[in-house]
Amino acid sequence: MADPRHFLDLDRLETPVLRGILTSAAGFKRANAAGERLQPLKGKMLAMIFERPSTRTRVSFEVGMRQLGGEVIVLESHGTQLGRGETIGDTARVLSRYVDAIMLRTSDHEKLTELASHATVPVINGLTSRSHPCQLMADILTYEERRGPITGKSVAWAGDVNNMTYTWIQAAARFGFDLKVACPNPLEPPKPLLDWARKNGGKVEVLHELDAAVRGADCVVTDTWVSMGQTPDAHRLKKFQPFRVDARAMALAKPDAVFMHCLPAHRDDEVTGDVLDGPQSVVWDEAENRLHAQKGILDWCLQ
Ligand code: CP
Repeated sequence: MADPRHFLDLDRLETPVLRGILTSAAGFKRANAAGERLQPLKGKMLAMIFERPSTRTRVSFEVGMRQLGGEVIVLESHGTQLGRGETIGDTARVLSRYVDAIMLRTSDHEKLTELASHATVPVINGLTSRSHPCQLMADILTYEERRGPITGKSVAWAGDVNNMTYTWIQAAARFGFDLKVACPNPLEPPKPLLDWARKNGGKVEVLHELDAAVRGADCVVTDTWVSMGQTPDAHRLKKFQPFRVDARAMALAKPDAVFMHCLPAHRDDEVTGDVLDGPQSVVWDEAENRLHAQKGILDWCLQ
């Protein structure tokens, strides 16, 4: 039996595979808009395990799977034996006997890799503390719909260094754009990740100043300053304030720059309301494109 096609992280998949998924996602989007009901996943079943809350990931996977003819089962870890200590390996072995693919959202990245190592069906990363590759596929789809190929463009990341930052760094290598990460000193992305990105052609710079990162950017991205599972800390949050994306920061970017945020957003923390709700913001397209990107990912995993 062939190895399952896991969708775990952008650094584990080559660019042509990721490009193929995006092409397929765009095709599913066009078909949906034209009222065509493509059902390549008829009879397939996806199990989704949530150890963390979700709105977009949960709904877009469920709607995407159903629109493609498949079905889903949602498992909250507290309602399963996982929440009582059954191992992730045993859970993987059992679920693989019932379903055709498993999506996991967890704070523990090792749980994801453990699940994948024991599953005999594809495993999809629905977010871990280390990465959020499904979101990045929707983000690239959104940027390219609005502005054409992202290759060679300049992206500015502002604020915290978190799972989204890590995945944008992987994406810079895989899709060939320049990434400037602006974050408070002494935050830094992990050195092995930066080394990997640079070895794989990613032009990634880390700056401790917002203006230098956003100046001339084609795309400005930020995310919450308090990630899931973190407790807000006034002293830490104060350090992020110079990295808030506001109209002044957007004015330093290119006039046609887009603003992106994976959501949920906290208006007037990491981004001001006028930017989030303003004409350069593409955040609602990004949210919609989670649906189309999930379809591309599911179709690739289950081919
Ligand atoms: N962006 C994102 O993953 O949203 P949810 O947490 O609502 O799934």
